[in-house]
Amino acid sequence: MGFYVSIMIKLFSKVSYVILLLCLLSCTCFTSTEAYDALDPNGNVTVKWDIMSWSPDGYVAVVTIYNFQKYRHIQAPGWSLGWTWAKKEIIWTMIGGQATDQGDCSRFKGNIPHCCKKSPTVVDLLPGTPYNQQIANCCKGGVLSSWVQDPTTAASSFQLSVGAAGTTNKTVRVPKNFTLNAPGPGYTCGPANIVKPSKFMTADKRRVTQALMTWNVTCTYSQFLAQKSPTCCVSLSSFYNDTVVPCPRCACGCQSNITQPGSCVELDSPYLASVVSRSGTNSYTPLVQCTRHMCPIRVHWHVKVNYKEYWRVKITITNFNYRMNYSNWNLVAQHPNFDNLTQIFSFNYESLNPYATINDTAMLWGIKFYNDLLMQASPVGNVQSEVLFRKDKSTFTFDKGWAFPRRIYFNGDNCVMPPPDAYPWLPNASSRHAVSLLFILATSLSALVLHAHA
Ligand SMILES: *[C@@H]1O[C@H](CO)[C@@H](O)[C@H](O)[C@H]1NC(C)=O
Ligand SMILES: *[C@@H]1O[C@H](CO)[C@@H](O)[C@H](O)[C@H]1NC(C)=O
Ligand SMILES: *[C@@H]1O[C@H](CO)[C@@H](O)[C@H](O)[C@H]1NC(C)=O
Ligand SMILES: *[C@@H]1O[C@H](CO)[C@@H](O)[C@H](O)[C@H]1NC(C)=O
Ligand SMILES: *[C@@H]1O[C@H](CO)[C@@H](O)[C@H](O)[C@H]1NC(C)=O
Ligand SMILES: *[C@@H]1O[C@H](CO)[C@@H](O)[C@H](O)[C@H]1NC(C)=O
Ligand SMILES: *[C@@H]1O[C@H](CO)[C@@H](O)[C@H](O)[C@H]1NC(C)=O
Ligand SMILES: *[C@@H]1O[C@H](CO)[C@@H](O)[C@H](O)[C@H]1NC(C)=O
Ligand SMILES: *[C@@H]1O[C@H](CO)[C@@H](O)[C@H](O)[C@H]1NC(C)=O
Ligand SMILES: *[C@@H]1O[C@H](CO)[C@@H](O)[C@H](O)[C@H]1NC(C)=O
Repeated sequence: MGFYVSIMIKLFSKVSYVILLLCLLSCTCFTSTEAYDALDPNGNVTVKWDIMSWSPDGYVAVVTIYNFQKYRHIQAPGWSLGWTWAKKEIIWTMIGGQATDQGDCSRFKGNIPHCCKKSPTVVDLLPGTPYNQQIANCCKGGVLSSWVQDPTTAASSFQLSVGAAGTTNKTVRVPKNFTLNAPGPGYTCGPANIVKPSKFMTADKRRVTQALMTWNVTCTYSQFLAQKSPTCCVSLSSFYNDTVVPCPRCACGCQSNITQPGSCVELDSPYLASVVSRSGTNSYTPLVQCTRHMCPIRVHWHVKVNYKEYWRVKITITNFNYRMNYSNWNLVAQHPNFDNLTQIFSFNYESLNPYATINDTAMLWGIKFYNDLLMQASPVGNVQSEVLFRKDKSTFTFDKGWAFPRRIYFNGDNCVMPPPDAYPWLPNASSRHAVSLLFILATSLSALVLHAHA
């Protein structure tokens, strides 16, 4: 009787494992429409405002923007930060940043403030700013890397001296209605909260100083708020089936020659060279090559080789956008076998582990000075890598599209996947299935026999 029970338990644990897997898939495969991102639940941009000294009519503060998001960076043309003053404050001077609009300073004589607007908008200065206008962490054109890629360049600071403001921690008022564009919409900022004053270590690490007063603002991103159409799609292929499953048609938009003439450029267009040369600078609206998917970015996942203990995938990212060199790009991929990645070639890799129990998500990005720049659509326009996975005998299969990714993000945006029923099949999938069922039956039988003998 004992061996029956043990087999029942084994079968039951297999079944419950499959159910668990299905549950995990179904609850992690939704596309996020709210500020909550399942793969980076705590991801946020924090704005920290440190008052460093009081002045006769206000204070001097250092404002630092931290990008705490694991895989969403802030790319050119960079962040812009806005707020509304609580009273009639003005900005006398700024270092390491500037207000985009001075506003009406006509009530001032002699010393003219940097900005008199009730709701100023501040941007970073550009690289190459004279030293006397710089402070630490400034002047990167508003570009911040993602936290996982490089925490040392994920923060940006500017200093401002505020007038017509409170001059003690009792009379000063925190600004309201913070807004962050990074670039374009997508971020929502909470209220400023007074927090414990920041502490600073001197360069020789022998003395700690602290801010007179500190407040924090937390901003979170939502792809829904950004109201962007998708920016990337996924195509699939495998060594065991000649079919290449392309990106879904119209994944990022449709070619319409009536409503939006010139919404894309044909690869063999005689105007290609002139269009491309006119779009010499990075611009926020993509100019894409005409494809059935119309996406600026395509990620191709090719199941390349099957070894006894391992299997190998080739990942190719192609840029169809003539207007953008994607610097410091990153990819997030979810596949159950990322818990046993053996080797990755030509990309950096870090395991993302939002829930302690599931270890199936990886962040990949380019190697500095080698392929961290994904060039515009011509002439090169792609980067590639190969990934070697170790097979886990209990889950590994080429059946039912298991070898393909569950979800892909490019630069933090969810990529459009082909429908699961279009995934490349194993040749004669049904007969294979029968074989594997037979195999399970046979092994259970032999187990029975063994138990019976014992
Ligand atoms: C923002 O991110 C930081 C770093 O991950 C985290 O410590 C903090 O709790 C987050 N803030 C919020 C409000 O989620
Ligand atoms: C303001 O400063 C006083 C000491 O001058 C301190 O006791 C108090 O905690 C400070 N309040 C805030 C909100 O920082
Ligand atoms: C700040 O935001 C609140 C809520 O969004 C709004 O009611 C208020 O008018 C805004 N204040 C200013 C000064 O813009
Ligand atoms: C305020 O922001 C700083 C810098 O990100 C962080 O170290 C600190 O924990 C934050 N404080 C609160 C209460 O969120
Ligand atoms: C462009 O317009 C022509 C004629 O109106 C039409 O036949 C063709 O299908 C259109 N192409 C696309 C991609 O919509
Ligand atoms: C991309 O980089 C190449 C080489 O540095 C440059 O020639 C091209 O103008 C850049 N394209 C854009 C859109 O910035
Ligand atoms: C997740 O998998 C990676 C790659 O195998 C490994 O380096 C990491 O330690 C794993 N993390 C956990 C929590 O198991
Ligand atoms: C990775 O594979 C090895 C060998 O098959 C196995 O012992 C180990 O438990 C696996 N690790 C994970 C996290 O599944
Ligand atoms: C390859 O996969 C496709 C589904 O994408 C399927 O229609 C086709 O029959 C498969 N080819 C073979 C040889 O099994
Ligand atoms: C695959 O199935 C077809 C019919 O379903 C059959 O004719 C063919 O011989 C099978 N091929 C293999 C390799 O089993």
